[in-house]
Amino acid sequence: MIKTNKKKINSLYIHIPFCKNICPYCDFVKFYSNKSWENQYINRLIEDLDEVKKKFKKFKTIYIGGGTPSILSRENLINLLDNLKDLRRKKCEFTIEANPEDINDEFLRILKKYKVNRISIGIQSFNKNILKEIKRDYSIDYFELINKVKKYIKNINIDLIYGFKGQTLEDLNKDLDCFIKLNVNHISIYSLIVDEGSIFYVKKYSEQDEDSSRKFYDFILDKLRKNGYERYEISNFARKKKYQSKHNLNYWKNKEYVGIGLASHGYIGPYRYNFTKSLSNYLNKTNLIEKEEVNSKTMKEYFFLTNLRLKDGFKLKDYKKTFKSDFIDDYKTLIDELVKDNLAKITKKKFYFTDDGLIILDFILIKIFNF
Ligand SMILES: C[S@@+](CC[C@H](N)C(=O)[O-])C[C@H]1O[C@@H](n2cnc3c(N)ncnc32)[C@H](O)[C@@H]1O
Ligand code: SF4
Repeated sequence: MIKTNKKKINSLYIHIPFCKNICPYCDFVKFYSNKSWENQYINRLIEDLDEVKKKFKKFKTIYIGGGTPSILSRENLINLLDNLKDLRRKKCEFTIEANPEDINDEFLRILKKYKVNRISIGIQSFNKNILKEIKRDYSIDYFELINKVKKYIKNINIDLIYGFKGQTLEDLNKDLDCFIKLNVNHISIYSLIVDEGSIFYVKKYSEQDEDSSRKFYDFILDKLRKNGYERYEISNFARKKKYQSKHNLNYWKNKEYVGIGLASHGYIGPYRYNFTKSLSNYLNKTNLIEKEEVNSKTMKEYFFLTNLRLKDGFKLKDYKKTFKSDFIDDYKTLIDELVKDNLAKITKKKFYFTDDGLIILDFILIKIFNF
């Protein structure tokens, strides 16, 4: 066998920053889609992919996210997918994000041809009033749509958001019923966040208060579990282990990944890096990347920040291998306190947060960082 010096990393992320509409809740880096920018952007991405091909072995997971990748012209989509052909390992989990309005037979045929085998569809809500409020009030028969997708791709995720103003538990229940009827294997369900970069922020739209958010979250956990969906990460549920997102698990297990495209980030040890958020800089290759060397402090922060989102937390032996010390020795009194308050559990093999702990994850993480 020929030996290469190429580095082996599991996951590749590619960012497509274009959207047809700008949703009022969204603070991601995105631009109104424009044919000329789109063409230039895909050509630039392909240059970066050529570099990736020189430096890295084939990937176990590839994820094209956005923005809205499904908005790409068919020529650009084919061009991009064609350039990814040589980067897939044999059993690669290959995901694309898509907005419901862009999905049709032609789009799905292209995905299938290029072995895209997972699709993440941003539905957000099935409620007509909410959809109107978030400027997504297209009339789509979701049952028909998902059945069409299933003919081409079996591994489907649906994104939903909860916590809109005026949304009741009954509304949430109806959204979950609609989701369950679609009979797909994975759901990501997020509580609405009003971040500074969003239109909702400018309009002083308020986030759900803590009590309601807790009620909604408990309701979601209970309902999805009763219907066969197991939560494996704070906001992610799958029917079986094999449907869990391998790509996202790679992030959550704090493993290295390559990210390319505007505003994307990556972790190629010992560096974490971010691509510029300026489209012109990305296209002209100026001030392209900022990188930061991971030191022992940030390494620990990332280790907790990622692994502790997972239902299974982390293995004590992984902590030992990474930090050359014993987790229980390092955090004894804090562990005791968290376990006593039923926020965390520790076994011979692993440390993880309980349902009660996960819901206040950010709060506990600060305690851990400051310990
Ligand atoms: C990066 S977005 C891109 C996906 C795609 N463009 C879409 O809108 O469906 C991925 C997901 O993040 C979630 N999301 C985005 N902004 C959010 C916010 N402010 N609060 C909660 N969830 C949000 C949505 O569910 C969205 O589908
Ligand atoms: S939520 Fe998705 S479609 Fe809407 S603006 Fe953000 S990235 Fe674009």
